[in-house]
Amino acid sequence: MSEFEPNETGGKQNPPTGEELWREEFPVASAEQGFVERRQFGRFLVLTSGAMVAGQLWLLGKNWLSEVETTEYPRKAVALTSEIPVGGTKVFQYPGPSDNCLLVHVEPSKFVAYSQKCTHLACAVIYAPEKKRLECPCHEGYFSIDDGHVTQGPPPRPLPRIELEVEGGQIFAYGISVFGKET
Ligand code: FES
Repeated sequence: MSEFEPNETGGKQNPPTGEELWREEFPVASAEQGFVERRQFGRFLVLTSGAMVAGQLWLLGKNWLSEVETTEYPRKAVALTSEIPVGGTKVFQYPGPSDNCLLVHVEPSKFVAYSQKCTHLACAVIYAPEKKRLECPCHEGYFSIDDGHVTQGPPPRPLPRIELEVEGGQIFAYGISVFGKET
């Protein structure tokens, strides 16, 4: 008997509603339906999270591998090697009078210097000798003392490195290297 023919009691069956037709096409019981939706949602979350992580890693790798750009500025004496003990620091200005930089005596014969301005929101970074890293106290952004790259926190770019040379017991700055291009 067709659904549209009279039934045993002589009455006519109503034509199927949109909801009934939909259920006929996709026969999922309502208890299972919730489970299917949760499962699909879980899968969606896993896929989108994975895509976001992959995107972040790609950006990090891109910055990390991008070329170093060095700009030379007039040479300037910034300190005597004897005035900073190992683990000590000195703030100096380079290349302009308002460009604060941090000179660090990392090891007996190793001096490095970076712009003191955090690449996140421009707080002044400080040196943590026990961890051998530069730290931004504002939002716990950390930078490698070896090349200034970001090791933790929100800073989007490495610290610009001040190029140094030592001559006759004096330390001279002569340029600035920037790692990675702004994206
Ligand atoms: S200003 Fe340095 S981490 Fe935010």
